[in-house]
Amino acid sequence: MTIRTNCNNNKIYITVIGELENNNEIDELEDVISTLENKKFHITFLGANVIPKNIIERITILQEDNKCNIFVLKRYLFSYLQCLGIKCSYITETLAFKKTDYNLSCEKEKPSKEEVYDFLRNINKAYGYDYTEYQIDSIMRRINISMIRGRISDFNTFREQVLNNQEIFHDLFLDLSINTTEFFRDHEVFSMIKNKILPYLNSYSHVKIWCAGCSIGKEVYSLAIILKEANMLSKTQIYATDINPYVIEEARNGLYSISNLEKAISNYRKAEGEKNFIEYFDINKSYIKIKENLKKNILFFQHSLLSEGRLNEFNLILCRNVFIYFNDSLQEKVLKNFYNSLDDNGFLVLGKSEGIQKNNGHRYFYKYSEKNKIYRKSNK
Ligand SMILES: C[S@@+](CC[C@H](N)C(=O)[O-])C[C@H]1O[C@@H](n2cnc3c(N)ncnc32)[C@H](O)[C@@H]1O
Repeated sequence: MTIRTNCNNNKIYITVIGELENNNEIDELEDVISTLENKKFHITFLGANVIPKNIIERITILQEDNKCNIFVLKRYLFSYLQCLGIKCSYITETLAFKKTDYNLSCEKEKPSKEEVYDFLRNINKAYGYDYTEYQIDSIMRRINISMIRGRISDFNTFREQVLNNQEIFHDLFLDLSINTTEFFRDHEVFSMIKNKILPYLNSYSHVKIWCAGCSIGKEVYSLAIILKEANMLSKTQIYATDINPYVIEEARNGLYSISNLEKAISNYRKAEGEKNFIEYFDINKSYIKIKENLKKNILFFQHSLLSEGRLNEFNLILCRNVFIYFNDSLQEKVLKNFYNSLDDNGFLVLGKSEGIQKNNGHRYFYKYSEKNKIYRKSNK
């Protein structure tokens, strides 16, 4: 990251180039902002897709006092700040697709599945992200969305641009990443974890949980809340992973739009939450912030379920609403990996529309609650 500060016609402009990658860079930017605290300034984020919590909090306060205007280049950051209710202006991408006029009425023929598979194999070679065993229909829909967004109607042109320009691949990567989530999603599952699984795990002196495909963190914080209410959080280590590094940054920040609060409170109550849900947050005008004590035992990091390296000795793995994007053979590979990552008697929780039927999962797991898609590791 580089910070440039300019003064022009009595206006101060700070430009932040690149992602803020470590605490030193965050401190550096905070120092620059501190020196300008009583002046009015414009701040522009050029490379960042997500900015850290401290900076967000700082500039939100300054903006409320009418001291700072925020500009962003990346659409990801733009949506993130908008979602938190922070005013910012979107500046147009310079390096986006070559803007061929996209006209739906003269849309070219759709690519065949074979062409798309070939494209995916080439993406894997060029960038190391393997989508060849994702559900092909969903991948084709996302490619179409990416082409419309990039205003490009010809698949071969799109393909060449993605394979030759990392920025354009990056846009496609974000379109391929579906991050829908909520607090206490499928509340019955959380009730069952609370009433059946946690009492069992409480007999251990130390508990290890993996939340795989955690998206922006709402699922893992829901888990942290029920662990806290069971007085088990302090002896539990939670790994929270996702392939998408930006959702991991959002999860670490723990800032969420206030507009979904009512639904979250209702889910929490239905999941038999024992307290007042908002006690776990600091409430700002337009967003809520998860309390630091819930974060202490959670380790967030980027990790793909397709990678070779193994994480192990878990007592419980949650991987919900991720298998829906995988074909049966990839689901089986990941299930085998979960089998090897679980302790004897360990639990696996999948999403409501997922299971172990069509993917040979019964070789590794048996049913604990089919209704809630909870399974246990088989003894071989
Ligand atoms: C729909 S979200 C589910 C979030 C959360 N588990 C829930 O159920 O609310 C699916 C998540 O899976 C992640 N994902 C997709 N492919 C993955 C992979 N190969 N490895 C790890 N995470 C992956 C996506 O980035 C996305 O955040």
